[in-house]
Amino acid sequence: MRVGVLTGGGDCPGLNAVIRGIVRKGVQEYGYDFVGFKDGWRGPLEGDAIRLDIPAVRGILPRGGTILGSSRTNPLKVQDGIRRIKDNLAKQEIQALIAIGGEDTLGVAARLSGEYGVPCVGVPKTIDNDLSATDYTFGFDTAVNIATEAIDRLHTTAESHMRVLVVEVMGRHAGWIALHSGLAGGANVILIPEQRFDVDQVCDWVTSRFRASYAPIVVVAEGAMPKDGDMVLKDQSLDSFGHVRLSGVGEWLAKEIEKRTGKEARTTVLGHVQRGGTPSAFDRWLATRFGLHAIDCVREGDFGKMVALRGTDIVRVPLADATAKLKTVDPKLYEEVGVFFG
Ligand code: F6P
Repeated sequence: MRVGVLTGGGDCPGLNAVIRGIVRKGVQEYGYDFVGFKDGWRGPLEGDAIRLDIPAVRGILPRGGTILGSSRTNPLKVQDGIRRIKDNLAKQEIQALIAIGGEDTLGVAARLSGEYGVPCVGVPKTIDNDLSATDYTFGFDTAVNIATEAIDRLHTTAESHMRVLVVEVMGRHAGWIALHSGLAGGANVILIPEQRFDVDQVCDWVTSRFRASYAPIVVVAEGAMPKDGDMVLKDQSLDSFGHVRLSGVGEWLAKEIEKRTGKEARTTVLGHVQRGGTPSAFDRWLATRFGLHAIDCVREGDFGKMVALRGTDIVRVPLADATAKLKTVDPKLYEEVGVFFG
């Protein structure tokens, strides 16, 4: 059996751990051969592949990024994309394909598998933790730890100058990173994309924190938006690579806080620091288990499935369900955390 592996979409700590889990079990237990496609769907589209064997995966467990490279290439949007992929898989004698990715990458795998008969297995990945079919995605824990450490550090500098420090974290559609790191880091305000915020309310929380003789930390997810009438922040225009860019809610909010409270405010945008570097122990554990279970799906011919975490078990769900619904923060959970605001 010859199996192809690819990593698509934004990179994420733990991708290499998945690849290693797949290859180690596949070679050692089942005697399979592996081919790694380069840069997500671009690899099978252009026939760009490398050999994946035991030496190729040695030492990659703690390494961030992906040894296969990644891209946001979508073969469904490319002329003749499906035919080219099928031809290249046939040329390389690939009998199964494991796609490790987020919504877009797995969406392509679901269609290839369901509509075009390509035997695919999916592994969910995103630091945003917003895929509904799995309790957690690997990469999320690492991102939360990085953001929490940053918040811890920002507390001391905020206190020294009695300033407001606004921390912008990733999370375009869901506020999981903001919520978890904000709670873990003892933030005084947490703003998430799921609930539009009222700038005056934020300023009240900031002021009450100063009144208690402490400096406030405001954690804001990059996709958070003020209520109507405050300002339209999102620059939804595409950049020259066709990617959506959000335009700095953190910077905007710090200026508004200064204007409305008269207190000095600064912004730290954590950005891609949250995605880079070595995965946490939890993410290595989860990613490795996903890899081991993905190769078992191949072994059993259980295609069109994605591996997922439910409680402490790894289960299989239809690939089509994997991308059907975004997992957003429940308003009740947000309300629960709100006891710490101000
Ligand atoms: O999906 C993960 C994510 O990190 C989002 O939180 C973020 O908005 C996006 O990727 C940024 O991706 P890039 O800069 O690679 O386009």
